[in-house]
Amino acid sequence: MRKYHIVTIAGDGIGPEILESALAVLARVQELSGEFALEYEEREGGAACYERHGVNLSKESLEACRTADSVLKAPVGLPWVRYPDGTEAGLLGGVLRNGLDLYANVRPVKLWPGVDAPIKAKAGEIDYVIIRENTEGLYLSRGLGVGNDEAMADMLLMTRKGVERVCRFAFEAARKRSGSPSDGVRRVTCVDKSNVLRSFAFFRRIFQEVGEQYPDIEQDFLYSDAAGQDLVRRPWRFDVLVMENFLGDLLSDLGGGTVGGLGMCPSGNIGEGASYFEPIHGTAPDIAGKGVANPLSQVLAAAMMLDHLGETAAGTMIRDAVWEALVQEDLVIQASGQPRGGSRTATEAILRHLRHGVGPQREH
Ligand code: IPM
Ligand code: MN
Repeated sequence: MRKYHIVTIAGDGIGPEILESALAVLARVQELSGEFALEYEEREGGAACYERHGVNLSKESLEACRTADSVLKAPVGLPWVRYPDGTEAGLLGGVLRNGLDLYANVRPVKLWPGVDAPIKAKAGEIDYVIIRENTEGLYLSRGLGVGNDEAMADMLLMTRKGVERVCRFAFEAARKRSGSPSDGVRRVTCVDKSNVLRSFAFFRRIFQEVGEQYPDIEQDFLYSDAAGQDLVRRPWRFDVLVMENFLGDLLSDLGGGTVGGLGMCPSGNIGEGASYFEPIHGTAPDIAGKGVANPLSQVLAAAMMLDHLGETAAGTMIRDAVWEALVQEDLVIQASGQPRGGSRTATEAILRHLRHGVGPQREH
């Protein structure tokens, strides 16, 4: 029996309820597989943790995340829990991503069956992954901005090491995929603003250097403003995209908007050793505790975690179940982005469709 030690962070707002869904799905998958076991260590983190203990994540919890096989994290943060400088105190992005040097933020954007999306496309016709640089760029300035009442500056920093490793990660990711939905070409799109800023010209130059080592992958270039348009007008041509931290934050939410909302979007934060998996959205305090949140982002994050652990058959089992539940309209994502019948009904629909040994029926 393969054993994995997993840290969970239930977070704030809708965090605990969607994590509960993901844990229920993981429990059933383990039962069906019978080949691996996940043992959990719950850790507090986020806004409520900050209010209780004065820190959003303790040093011990950070160490627990570092040494675990992986971390399944729910959304954290509450808009009214802020530091004196006006930024949110409950967010763990800086602590975990920089603290554990998780340089690649992997954000798949995929149109699932039956989802009411604002773009005319069939399921699977939108299927790309944004690789967001996760440790530098504009967000390295988190907490470090300088200025006064008249002016304020945050710095955008790119290092050769930082850009090289994230570009390499993107090309490697493209090798493992089967190309863009429209033409099957393996393609990495470099998204930048190199027509205006030197840091982005530097990013593009290093992207090209790294790309030379991947002659089997097409190099593609878009300025970030034009990328915003193309992600809406012809998303099917994208396979893998790589970009600076802030751009990746913006464009991954834009991508989410094209496939039924952020509730459909999982992500992975990956470094050389440690990793954690989470939805890309926040804690939605307005609907917290009502049982109406879409748990799919968290459930699909759990599937990504299994893939990362090497349990790809189990990860696929979850994605197959979600696909099947949506096809059979057992699971319905409404135009609001929320599942019909609430989170629990959605979870039960997924549980009913989990099957042992069916194997990967399709790419998703
Ligand atoms: C995300 C989130 C975080 C980020 C916030 C909550 C710190 O928006 O993961 O995209 O900006 O990176
Ligand atoms: Mn974001």
